[in-house]
Order: sequence, then C-alpha cells, then structure tokens
Amino acid sequence: MGHPAPPRHLAIIMDGNGRWAARRGKPRTYGHQAGTEAARRIVRAVAERGIPVLTVYAFSSENWSRPRHEVTRLMSLFRHALDREVRKLHDNGVRLSFIGRREAFAPSLQRGMTRAEELTRNNQRLQLNVAANYGGRADLADAARGLAERVQRGELRPEEVNEDRLAEQVALAGQPPPDLFIRTGGEQRLSNFLPWDLAYTELYFCDTLWPDFSEADLDRALEDFARRERRFGGLGEPALKHA
Ligand code: IPE
Ligand code: IPE
Ligand code: MG
Repeated sequence: MGHPAPPRHLAIIMDGNGRWAARRGKPRTYGHQAGTEAARRIVRAVAERGIPVLTVYAFSSENWSRPRHEVTRLMSLFRHALDREVRKLHDNGVRLSFIGRREAFAPSLQRGMTRAEELTRNNQRLQLNVAANYGGRADLADAARGLAERVQRGELRPEEVNEDRLAEQVALAGQPPPDLFIRTGGEQRLSNFLPWDLAYTELYFCDTLWPDFSEADLDRALEDFARRERRFGGLGEPALKHA
C-alpha cells in the first residue's frame, strides 16, 4: 500500500488555551501565555522534523469579538513575540510571513511584522506563516478582487480566470498546499482557516488543549498521517493494482 510522502506543509489551529486556563481556575489570558510557549516548542519540533512549511492560526478575523481585555492581552503577547522571538527564529533559519489583514493592527505591530519578514526573508530552513487577523472568506474575497483588478488593467481576460490564476492571489500563493492539518482542543471545524488551501488536506483532530500539545502529540499526528491513503479523486495504488 502506498504511503504518502512526509508532509511538506503542516497547518495547525492552536485551539484550547482558554479551557486549559479555566481548568486551572485561571483567567483565559493565562492560557494564551501558555499557548505561546507551546507554539515556540512546536515550531522548533517541526523544523527538527524537516517539514519545510508550517502555517499556524494565531488570531482569526472573528477573534476581535472576544472581550476587550482578552484581545488587548493577545495583542500584547503578539507584540512581545515580535520583540523577543524574531531574533531567535532568524538565528534558527526560520522565514516568517504573516497572512491576514494587517491594517487592523496597531501601526507599531504592523511595522514589527514587516521588519520580521524583511529580516528573515532569505532564510531557508522553515517557512513559518502566522495567520493573524486571517479569515478564509476574506482571503477568497481579496483574491477575487485581485483578479478583477487584473482584468480591469487588461492583463487578464475573464475567460483566463481559472484555478491557477486564483491560486496566485490567495494569501499562501506560491506555497504548496498543506498536506496535514491539525486542530487541537477537540472542536472539529475549520473556523474560517484556509478554505482554498485545505481542499485536499488530510484532517487530524485531537482533544489535547493547545498548551499541552507536545512533541509526542505531534509525532502521533504525523504517524497517523503516514497511514493515510491519499487518493485525490483517483483510485489510489492498491485499487490500480487490481485494475
Ligand atoms: C485559541 O484558544 C487561541 C485563540 C483563539 C487566540 P482559545 O482562546 O480559543 O481557547 P478555547 O477554545 O476558548 O479553550
Ligand atoms: C480558531 O479558534 C482561531 C484560532 C485558534 C486562532 P476559535 O476558538 O476562535 O474558533 P471557534 O470560535 O471555536 O470556531
Ligand atoms: Mg477556541
């Protein structure tokens, strides 16, 4: 039976911080702090396993609807990460990119994001995409607008709009689509994450709350992935043998 090649791109919804804190009788923001530590650990583990692309959902376009003090705390953790982590990521060969509408963030945060991208742009070990104020429907709407503008400028005829042209406009343009998706925290939904890119991704859900997600949990997900049979609408290898 044909096993899939190791994932070239892993996408993670890091969910469960609030519940992790609540179980300890702590405020939700305590869980977000612990969540950043888990993120640091997993970024390192993913790089060590030779997976070249990692995309993590840090803040969705819907997360602004959280209580104000929670949003404020998330912004300050983000700021702290930009100030404190980027150098280390750079030294470890990580190329950072942010996807999502960044205009919504404070100007200083936007500058931090741009600086991090510029500093790390030539790194080759791990492409780390951080989805911040990312929404999948907005991503598709922006892609559609981009195509409409190309048509208006006369660069593209309407009949030339196809999947390849749209793929060039989405936030993760130029990157291979995720092979494996992991959502921690027990919910089994996509929550507006990468609707274009996840079309043929293998989905893996686990109950572990994000701050508890360990290297062993990551390896379990990778082992599960290695047993999947990816068919992409075809018949897969065993079926072909009997054809
Ligand atoms: C994920 O954890 C982090 C963000 C959405 C920023 P949650 O904050 O959603 O934690 P739960 O799902 O409420 O436990
Ligand atoms: C998705 O988690 C967003 C992030 C993890 C950043 P949510 O906790 O916001 O998703 P829902 O509300 O349970 O769908
Ligand atoms: Mg959640």
